[in-house]
Amino acid sequence: MRRRIVAGNWKMNGTVADLATVAEISAAAKTAACEVVLCLPATLIRPARNLVGMELGGQDCHARAAGAHTGDISAQMLRNAGAGWVILGHSERRRDHGESDAQVAAKVQAAWEAGLTVILCIGETEAQYRAGETLDVLAAQVAGSLPEGATPANTVIAYEPVWAIGTGLTPAPEEVTRTHAFIRARLSDPALSILYGGSVGPANAALLRALPDVDGALVGGASLASKTFLPIINALEIAHA
Ligand code: 13P
Repeated sequence: MRRRIVAGNWKMNGTVADLATVAEISAAAKTAACEVVLCLPATLIRPARNLVGMELGGQDCHARAAGAHTGDISAQMLRNAGAGWVILGHSERRRDHGESDAQVAAKVQAAWEAGLTVILCIGETEAQYRAGETLDVLAAQVAGSLPEGATPANTVIAYEPVWAIGTGLTPAPEEVTRTHAFIRARLSDPALSILYGGSVGPANAALLRALPDVDGALVGGASLASKTFLPIINALEIAHA
């Protein structure tokens, strides 16, 4: 049985006022039949850790443990703040910060060394999708940004088509199935969980649940409020029979 996970990515959203939402999500996570992870802005990890017992994560880390890297945060720091997880290689980091596959791979290694579980994001842009390059892009990202040593305990893959993020657009279910199966075939350990991300909401979560190679979801906007995130957890928590 592969791990079933619903993870929320709060991106650059949330202040201490939103800890009430974290508490609501944590209460629901206790009885969920899947793992529930909230990847918070770094500023909220320690206050959230002091409040709740649920799994928490960061959204990026530096490849080095410490040093002269103004504004960056290390995997050890995330761990020290109370995180057990970290999202790496998100398309917004690849785009906004020019992160290459090699840089992402170095971050993955650093996160593993700090004892964090990595949610490694891969996905094609709209132009690549239109050009029919999706599978080539994914093969290159898996080969380039996932170092040797990934296990189901330390790594989860998130397939996030860039054109589906925050747009309300999603690939057809059969496209998601085909893409996830392709990714699984490229993994050195096919037992890794593969999450789908990109405009996941209460309305389409049940559809995702039925797809055989989808082991959960990475949720952006809809994870910011319990009234949209909790129905997604409910829809996805039980594995497809
Ligand atoms: P949305 O769910 O807001 O489309 O974001 C997806 C995402 O980027 C999660 O990492």
